[in-house]
Amino acid sequence: MNTIENLKDLTGKKILVRVDFNVPLKGEVIRDDNRIVQALPTIKYLLEKGASLVLMSHLGKIKWGKVSDEEIEQQKAKNNMKYVYPRLAELLTGYTVKFEEATHGESLKTAIASLGEREVLLVQNTRYEKGESKNSKELSAEWASYVDGFVMDAFGSAHRAHASTYGVPEILRSEGKPVALGFLMEKEVKNLGACVKGDTHPYIAILGGFKVSDKIKVIDSLLKKCDKILIGGAMAYTFKKALGEAIGTSPCEDDQLEYARNCYASGKIVLPVDSVVANDFDNPTEIKVVTATSGIPAGFEGLDVGPETIKLYEAEIAKAKLIFWNGPVGVFEKKEFQAGTIAVCKAITENKEAFSVIGGGDSAAAAKEFGYANKFSHVSTGGGASLEMIELDGHLPGIDVIG
Ligand code: 3PG
Repeated sequence: MNTIENLKDLTGKKILVRVDFNVPLKGEVIRDDNRIVQALPTIKYLLEKGASLVLMSHLGKIKWGKVSDEEIEQQKAKNNMKYVYPRLAELLTGYTVKFEEATHGESLKTAIASLGEREVLLVQNTRYEKGESKNSKELSAEWASYVDGFVMDAFGSAHRAHASTYGVPEILRSEGKPVALGFLMEKEVKNLGACVKGDTHPYIAILGGFKVSDKIKVIDSLLKKCDKILIGGAMAYTFKKALGEAIGTSPCEDDQLEYARNCYASGKIVLPVDSVVANDFDNPTEIKVVTATSGIPAGFEGLDVGPETIKLYEAEIAKAKLIFWNGPVGVFEKKEFQAGTIAVCKAITENKEAFSVIGGGDSAAAAKEFGYANKFSHVSTGGGASLEMIELDGHLPGIDVIG
């Protein structure tokens, strides 16, 4: 792997570090600073080697297109990197950390040029630039022209071929300038790599979440590697309907029924044998457990896996040597429907023989909330990125471009 330890003579060099500071915000307050904390080893290493750092990241989504200037301004106000800056400065106490509002032009150029040795400049949200998500050649060339090298440490964004994740390193590399992967990238690639390779068995995947259609590529890839795939969450009901079970008002993707049937025919899919169902999502007045045999009655929807499914999951998880988990198996945000997801966390972390990986997103949030996160072998900082890494057999644009 081409990592930052290969970079030589960093003293006085200006290095653009692409980090993923796309942290969850509630108004102006950061709800979870994990992604900032996870980038610190790379940042501190480069600073100790004498580099000055230009940190770039996106924050949230800015939807361009047919929207008014006013709407763009509102989106920008919501996703302002200045809310991230104080926490970064605090975590880097002892270093000079500055913030630059401009994402292009003279102001950015001057701010980078005047950056002293071992100083850090956090730049405003890269998505304030329309050209970022389009991997604009012009924007990439401008950003590349301000620095001497590039480090990719934004695993959560490595599946995006954007200007700051792809265009800049592509240009710098073609100019013979140093580009490398940071420590977080190295850790993610190594740990998720075990799930990509899948040469440890029994290998099981636990997939939850809302839509089958979002997970088709990862299911196809995992079917080739895994011994079993335990399906939970709302997407289980599409499978159940495909097998002829009554699913009441549970969500279902009717256009995926044939796909679900074909998957099930692989013999590797394990579906819930019972469900916790309720008569209303927001204000349930009746909650009960129903079996797969009786099906979910009309007017009820499945919101968690039931106790017999938990036993089945526990038995499968206890036998596994490699476990990949993506997607809660129930509505874990609500007390009444979190037992399944808690049981998954508990069972995985009690299996001390297994190498266990959470593929970011909601399952990582659930593990954190229930106090299990630090008991997993690896909790990825990237949701979409970890799924795509499995789908694409370890190839992501942001990794491949580094070479
Ligand atoms: C994430 O949160 O998954 C990453 O930061 C990528 O964000 P994106 O889906 O908006 O590109």
